Amino acid sequence: MITDALETINDSLEMRRCFDLARIGKGNVNPNPMVGSLLLYHQMVIGEGYHQQFGGNHAEVNCFNSVITKNRPKIPDSTLFVSLEPCCFHGKTPACSDLIINKKVKDLRISAIDKTPNVNGKGLKILSAENVKVQTSFLEKTGNWFVRNRTVFVTKKRPYIILKFAISKDGFLGKKDKKIWLTNPISKRLVHKWRSEVGAIMVGTNTALTDNPNLNNRYHYGSSPLRIVPDFHHKIPNNSHLKDGKTPTWILNGDEQKFSSAPNLDYISLPKGPSFLPRLFDKLVEANIDTLLVEGGAHLLNSFIEAGFWDEARVFKTNRTLGDGIPAPILKGQNEVIEWIGQDQLTFSYSEEG
Ligand SMILES: NC(=O)c1ccc[n+]([C@@H]2O[C@H](COP(=O)([O-])OP(=O)(O)OC[C@H]3O[C@@H](n4cnc5c(N)ncnc54)[C@H](OP(=O)(O)O)[C@@H]3O)[C@@H](O)[C@H]2O)c1
Ligand SMILES: [Zn+2]
Repeated sequence: MITDALETINDSLEMRRCFDLARIGKGNVNPNPMVGSLLLYHQMVIGEGYHQQFGGNHAEVNCFNSVITKNRPKIPDSTLFVSLEPCCFHGKTPACSDLIINKKVKDLRISAIDKTPNVNGKGLKILSAENVKVQTSFLEKTGNWFVRNRTVFVTKKRPYIILKFAISKDGFLGKKDKKIWLTNPISKRLVHKWRSEVGAIMVGTNTALTDNPNLNNRYHYGSSPLRIVPDFHHKIPNNSHLKDGKTPTWILNGDEQKFSSAPNLDYISLPKGPSFLPRLFDKLVEANIDTLLVEGGAHLLNSFIEAGFWDEARVFKTNRTLGDGIPAPILKGQNEVIEWIGQDQLTFSYSEEG
């Protein structure tokens, strides 16, 4: 039998702990989702685990493995909490639904349904048919939030798109042909952390020319994302940081012409126009990249906004006044959350669909 959660405070606390565990995998599991799991024997937690690394053990496996020998006989009489529906197919690792059945767990509580087409409730049905009591929807809103990248990736067949930019106090993104820094160093460090959490980062041609950005992660542990820049008119010079050959980089043009032989540099031919972004997303999905951070400028950001290709925006409103310049994109997001990073006001907002 599969039933919806009748949440009690305790159940919520255990699922909250699953989310805390899941969060530790952030940046290392993509395009898999972050997942946490906990085993509760009466009032005693006998195991915990989370998905640590793409291709590695799923959360449930690590949770079972964490149970010490003395406590293993308790597993069949324990309740298993997982922040996401257990997988039911043999992918990079064996199916967790089989493992749960083999471990003789009879009580399972989950938060979100895994929207991956070959799972999507199937894992729960398999378990229920084996007489596992399955309860769903524990803190479901938070559970869905944790796997939102994955949900967009598997249902929309494109990466989860985060727009990020900084604006002056008077609403400008920058000045034409002039490199201008708007945010404070702590905001900059936070952006580098975000870079460690995404698969790819993109800027427009003008930004590459004006700012000559490195677009890598230098101020936070973790990796640097794939760098992407359109260059349809072959304007970006070979001494640009984006062509330094140090970090994997895609230069998008219409003719597959190579203008540098630097290592880690791929020239990818895409059509300009309305199919440019969808074709880019196809390439990113092929490369298993589930999250794209778009860092400007205005032209590139507006092309994402106008086509409705964004899920989340992170906008720094800074204290600097520019007087004139390139107008910042206008976003109609919802569920805004505002934080302060020193004097920079950071707003997170979400697209209507997201
Ligand atoms: N404040 C911030 O957070 C921030 C962030 C980034 C940049 N900036 C500033 O913004 C300024 C640059 O902004 P911008 O609006 O002028 O330029 P941009 O968006 O960086 O680049 C625009 C150019 O990129 C190519 N491009 C962009 N979107 C495309 C699409 N959908 N399909 C095909 N090609 C596309 C086109 O190149 P072609 O015309 O060659 O085809 C286009 O002219 C710079 O001054 C930079 O310093 C500020
Ligand atoms: Zn699994």
